[in-house]
Amino acid sequence: MSTTPKLEILDLRHFSAAQLGPLLRDEAARWQQRLHWNYDQATTIVLDYLDGRILPGFVAVDADGGRICGYAFCVFEGAKAVIGDIYAFGETDTTSNPVGETLLRHMLEMLQATPGVDRIESQLLMYPSGSLATPFETFGFHCHPRLFMSRDIVAMESTGQRPTEVFQHHGLTLQTWHPIFYDAAAGLIHRCYAGHMDSTINDQYQTYYGAQRFLHNIIRFPGCGLFDAENSFVLRDSRSNEMKAILLSSRIRSDVAHITQLCVAPALRGQGIGRALLQHCSDTGAARGLTSLSLTVTEANTGAQKLYRNNGFVPKHRFDAMVWDKSFGAH
Ligand SMILES: CC(C)(COP(=O)(O)OP(=O)(O)OC[C@H]1O[C@@H](n2cnc3c(N)ncnc32)[C@H](O)[C@@H]1OP(=O)(O)O)[C@@H](O)C(=O)NCCC(=O)NCCS
Repeated sequence: MSTTPKLEILDLRHFSAAQLGPLLRDEAARWQQRLHWNYDQATTIVLDYLDGRILPGFVAVDADGGRICGYAFCVFEGAKAVIGDIYAFGETDTTSNPVGETLLRHMLEMLQATPGVDRIESQLLMYPSGSLATPFETFGFHCHPRLFMSRDIVAMESTGQRPTEVFQHHGLTLQTWHPIFYDAAAGLIHRCYAGHMDSTINDQYQTYYGAQRFLHNIIRFPGCGLFDAENSFVLRDSRSNEMKAILLSSRIRSDVAHITQLCVAPALRGQGIGRALLQHCSDTGAARGLTSLSLTVTEANTGAQKLYRNNGFVPKHRFDAMVWDKSFGAH
């Protein structure tokens, strides 16, 4: 049985990419093993930021031998802090993550004591649901379990209509993603998530400008994979040009697509448009040599989950979205 070393917790900005490289490469190997996710690009960006000495966070060091055991960082977006990552050698276990828990407690103490931080969000995908529950609960967080689901790309069961026929039937024009769609897509995302449980988890969904930032993050940064414009689509009303639905995807491995956004305008829901977009993404992916599709969905979003399960997606991993907001009251 391994014993937890006596830890010293130090400021992340004292450490260089060279010092943290082995830890981050170990983490990338674990993403590959657990989620078939090539995390190399995200690792490179974090290493660049480390050398810039600008990432707020902590490093856990073995107080006796000086060995680096784990690290954590966060990013700030206005009055919100997002925990970007926590990782420790040999951890991300269901039951025992002593280094990760120590880092998390330091991070939460620091953030809740920081003037101007009103909200903290965290989706540590690598940690199975419940595994960091104790520190999060202690600091007054609300927990929203989420699922990582995937399916092989094989021909999806035919509904009798090709996706393009479904779109035509509803007077919709399909186009692949182009940056000119930014503003309209942000508007649609904001409309689609008004009062939705996912806007409780990610407050970017609550405003139009927040939805723009969400798009910016998934298109420009590799945290959710490398954005794949050719396998991302919008549906617009053929007469008015108004945006009615979007499916955005990224590559998390050369042969694996990850759907980062799927939404359909409220008035058009329940008519097979979401399903047809999934099928179109799968068909296009198959033609481009992709072998599987993955996505994340909030467990309480039973409608979307039903759509995914009915179309062959299977849960592979359960993790927690954690949220703390000053409005929750003192803990
Ligand atoms: C989830 C969403 C994209 C589904 O789009 P849609 O066009 O309404 O879905 P479809 O009409 O193609 O539905 C296909 C199947 O899923 C089921 N389904 C879809 N949404 C459902 C809901 N809210 N409640 C119950 N079932 C639902 C349909 O009953 C249908 O089942 P069937 O194949 O047995 O007939 C749409 O509801 C939406 O935009 N929701 C808000 C944003 C969101 O939650 N996105 C997913 C985030 S992971």
